Amino acid sequence: MGIISKIAGPLAVASGMTGSRMYDVVRVGRERLIGEIIQLDGDRAIIQVYEDTSGIRPGEPVKSDGEPLSVELGPGILGNIFDGVQRPLEAIQRKSGAFIRRGIEVPSLDRKRRWHFHIGEGIRKGARIGEGGIIGYVDETELVRHYIMVPQGISGRLRSIREGSFTVEDTIAEIEAPDGKVIALTMMQRRPVRSVARHSGKEQPDSPLITGQRVVDFFFPVAKGGSAGIPGPFGSGKTVVSHQLAKHSDAEIVVYVGCGERGNEMTEVLVEFPELRDPKTGRPLMERTVLIANTSNMPVAAREASIYTGITISEYFRDMGYSVALMADSTSRWAEAMREISARLEEMPGEEGYPAYLPKRLAEFYERAGRVRTLSGKTGSVTIVGAVSPPGGDTSEPVSQGTLRVVKTYWALDAALANSKHFPSINWLNSYSLYKAQLAKWYSANVGDDYGAYREEAMKILQKEAELRDIVQLVGEDALPDNEKLMLEMGRIIREDFLRQNAFDEIDTYTSLEKQKLMARAILHYGETAEKALDRGVSAERIIASKARAYLSRLKEAPEADAETAVKRAMEQIDAEFAALEA
Ligand SMILES: Nc1ncnc2c1ncn2[C@@H]1O[C@H](COP(=O)(O)OP(=O)(O)OP(=O)(O)O)[C@@H](O)[C@H]1O
Ligand SMILES: [Mg+2]
Repeated sequence: MGIISKIAGPLAVASGMTGSRMYDVVRVGRERLIGEIIQLDGDRAIIQVYEDTSGIRPGEPVKSDGEPLSVELGPGILGNIFDGVQRPLEAIQRKSGAFIRRGIEVPSLDRKRRWHFHIGEGIRKGARIGEGGIIGYVDETELVRHYIMVPQGISGRLRSIREGSFTVEDTIAEIEAPDGKVIALTMMQRRPVRSVARHSGKEQPDSPLITGQRVVDFFFPVAKGGSAGIPGPFGSGKTVVSHQLAKHSDAEIVVYVGCGERGNEMTEVLVEFPELRDPKTGRPLMERTVLIANTSNMPVAAREASIYTGITISEYFRDMGYSVALMADSTSRWAEAMREISARLEEMPGEEGYPAYLPKRLAEFYERAGRVRTLSGKTGSVTIVGAVSPPGGDTSEPVSQGTLRVVKTYWALDAALANSKHFPSINWLNSYSLYKAQLAKWYSANVGDDYGAYREEAMKILQKEAELRDIVQLVGEDALPDNEKLMLEMGRIIREDFLRQNAFDEIDTYTSLEKQKLMARAILHYGETAEKALDRGVSAERIIASKARAYLSRLKEAPEADAETAVKRAMEQIDAEFAALEA
């Protein structure tokens, strides 16, 4: 047992810690606050404490758990809301009231609840089970079958297995390891959060994470197993984009990490998410979601840990063969927690006071995204989407730059767009996705080649529009020739009638790829028809003043089921309008 020699904010120094290892969890002081050893020098340990340390004094004891910071993984995890070190917030509230009492020990997973364990097909006594092998499952929610896996590092011959109703601590099977040792298995396992879970190899992502957000899916998709960054100034819509992805993306499991954002913003998540419905099944969305909430008023060290807690939970579901999407809002608050701890450690500061290892930590985090072959031979993926909040919106700062270097999709949110109420404020000129080529085959097979062709065409128009806008700034729109006026109008149509999407409108909030394609088709059809009209001598002014465009604007409101007829009708109406112009 060690003794506290010094305490400063979230850090404690303890002597007499012989036998401890880096990243071991320790209990600090008489109140047994949770901490983690982050530096070790002989028998002297520096401990990052995950709870408020005020009132804790030198001389108080420190006791090591002898185990690295870990999460509990098993049935009961879905639908839960945890803090940064996986303490279940609701269970704690029941025990200690609205304020989390320090040193409170509540297990992450409910110990009393029983789950019906089903033995997996072909699994019987005597079978050889490899590490990470699936031995059975629990239907944890209506939406998710929770596969029970042998923990990593354990393999051997199955000595016993039983089906029935058990708690996460009951033995459901026994494995005899090659060395003869018998290991009892429960439905719960623990994984250290700072180690990357193993798999049998990365595979190339080959399908997009479908989000229903038109600007994302159409122009800047992220692959399932890919990574995306959302940098954006204050109030530009980072949180709304993250929520939209959590609600609507077609990942099978969602892990949402609210990291260091204001309490009221997190309250929105805590109040809103439990009421959300899964769009496909109508079941509560929480049945496939895990929330990690670490608001700005919670201890800074727990915020640092929350990202690791989130990604470790994600990897666990990936290992069952699921596609998982992790949203982290905001990684800047995570980086700030690192900065604060680093400063207290008196480490040599790097850029803007962040520790020199910031870029490495960012890269290590995003590299835990991927599509992998799991140890049990399935394919699973983790997609990571991280919001970045650069101060003043200036993305030359270290967190944005560190993110930019590793993510392959970048949704650059733009203050000017947000101010003009163009949401999502993803700037189409400086955002990018490096997945398009990799996903081309998928689009071609699943939405048709025209989806990609329309995308190219629409982007060309937007780029031309941007060039023309620069000219218009100098000479005014009237000075442009008719075909360029029409180009400006086309840019406007794509921006307003396609890219703009109201997250709070029941229909507009989600658009399938099929409907996106139809909308793009109608818009490009308008463009072609308008060009023909120009050729026949109709002026750009008359084209722009005609009612034709109104039919495009209405397509957003068309329900998915009617999209095809709505688009067909719109195209006919556009044709009729233009015919009338030429008459
Ligand atoms: N897709 C959208 N549709 C409609 N309104 C939106 C959309 N995105 C953002 N908004 C509006 O912008 C506001 C700010 O968005 P949001 O809270 O997501 O910004 P943020 O970048 O997370 O801000 P902060 O920097 O404070 O965290 C929202 O409350 C909403 O009114
Ligand atoms: Mg926000």
